[in-house]
Amino acid sequence: MTDPAIAYFTEDASVAAVTARVGERADPRLTRVMGALVTHLHAFIKDVELTQAEWALAVEFLTRTGQMCDGNRQEFILLSDVLGVSMLVDAINNRRPDGATENTVLGPFHVDGVPDLPMGTNISRDGVGESCLFQGRVTDLDGAPVAGARIDVWSDNADGFYDVQQPESQPQPNNRGVFVTGADGRYAFQGIKPVSYPIPDDGPVGQMLGQLGRHPYRPAHMHFIVTAPGHQTVVTHTFVKGDDYLTSDAVFGVKKTLIADYTATPEGPTDWQSTFDFIMTPEGTQ
Ligand code: BEZ
Ligand code: FE
Repeated sequence: MTDPAIAYFTEDASVAAVTARVGERADPRLTRVMGALVTHLHAFIKDVELTQAEWALAVEFLTRTGQMCDGNRQEFILLSDVLGVSMLVDAINNRRPDGATENTVLGPFHVDGVPDLPMGTNISRDGVGESCLFQGRVTDLDGAPVAGARIDVWSDNADGFYDVQQPESQPQPNNRGVFVTGADGRYAFQGIKPVSYPIPDDGPVGQMLGQLGRHPYRPAHMHFIVTAPGHQTVVTHTFVKGDDYLTSDAVFGVKKTLIADYTATPEGPTDWQSTFDFIMTPEGTQ
């Protein structure tokens, strides 16, 4: 028989009233996660004394967030990103030893199945932007080269848009490619110096940022996914040192260790190079 103290819902015993309904055969992890969710959600509602109108606004906001989603647009992940939730989940699940390359947010613009390219290839197929040579090494924690590492890269164009955002006006693929290291662990490819850009802000998440007095910009960055047998996959960016938005990234993706030098070459002020080494963590390292 249900404990009479929680058989009926009361403000004081709200959490117990809900969690007591969970059946004995429910999955233990689900029971734990939902129990914590209900505990924190009720505490939050009590903390702010949520009004009926605010509750209705939240329902309407979440409804519009869902309605904004389709095969190309994931407004819920964007919401998770701007609330710092994506970065927190990533941090908890990718703790690495000092010196190892850190992860950051994946973002919505990665494309699977981009063909492998020979080292040194120029990934800027529209040829627009300030050219930049990206180079470095993939090593293990002891500095030994990692051969056979796949380096999947993508960046925005000179106007701050990814190719998939402008299928009509950009060649496909543009500013993306995959490179595989040889025995020396080295990589090199030509691209453009990325520019800062706003995350998609024409939906409910953008509206929310506006109401909070937050801008939607991300500091300029090049995306990388580095995979190598026996090593943890690194999903990361290198950020352009000196960018105005490094300390106010809309999605909290910047980590100090990922801020890279982009230096002008003797070729002139619009020709750059950026050297960054990826230091891989063995699989199974806690
Ligand atoms: C990106 O860096 O591509 C990105 C990350 C999170 C939200 C939107 C864009
Ligand atoms: Fe990006």
